[in-house]
Amino acid sequence: MTNLTNLGFLKGAIMETIVSTYNANEQPNAAPMGIKTEDMKHIVIQPYTSSMTYANLQSKRCAVINVTSNPELYYRTAFKEANPGGRTPLEWFEKVETVDAPGLRMADAFVEVSVLDIKSLGAERAEVSCDVQLIKTSSFLPKVYCRATFATIESIIHATRVKLFLAGDRQKQEQARRLIELIEHYNAIVNRIAPNSRYSAIMADLTQRINSWKDES
Ligand SMILES: Cc1cc2nc3c(=O)[nH]c(=O)nc-3n(C[C@H](O)[C@H](O)[C@H](O)COP(=O)(O)O)c2cc1C
Repeated sequence: MTNLTNLGFLKGAIMETIVSTYNANEQPNAAPMGIKTEDMKHIVIQPYTSSMTYANLQSKRCAVINVTSNPELYYRTAFKEANPGGRTPLEWFEKVETVDAPGLRMADAFVEVSVLDIKSLGAERAEVSCDVQLIKTSSFLPKVYCRATFATIESIIHATRVKLFLAGDRQKQEQARRLIELIEHYNAIVNRIAPNSRYSAIMADLTQRINSWKDES
């Protein structure tokens, strides 16, 4: 079995991944989550307690941590409403070997984990400590670096917070405004680096979504 070091994990650093789980009714769910390891054997996830991922980690006590830098996967798992029918396509998921959680077929690697402990981090967040059961890599080719890939993923991360902050108090709304400025900056980069691409389409879609949240707030 390969290890977290070979996948590029760094001790104590937040790494962005997509965590997939089964709901109580056995429907697969996936959401981007930042995760951390301190010893390359255990992984800590800090989900918002309002997320479906948190509820599933509590009930199923396991997950698959999908390693990917594909913006499409981040976008359509962060914003389920960006999918036809409002849910991540079922055919994106497959069964994995050691835990009762689905993996994302298009991921570069699966890290299958079982939950050891769940601690509260105040009203909004929890800390879920996990034990690595199995790591499986796909036979993927190395990927060339493109600024648009990362600018798109950064924008998706900011946008998940914009939605939350726009619904908050004045201070939160100010934070939302700053994040929107950053997304506008990334939008300009994506449109210069990769015009007429899937990335520019995601950025256009995000911009439209942000405008509709602004109208609602
Ligand atoms: C790259 C990235 C990292 C994220 N990290 C976290 C995280 O660590 N914890 C969290 O609760 N939400 C995080 N989010 C936001 C969730 O993915 C988002 O709220 C999602 O809709 C939750 O889906 P769920 O309700 O199906 O779990 C992140 C989003 C992105 C794009």
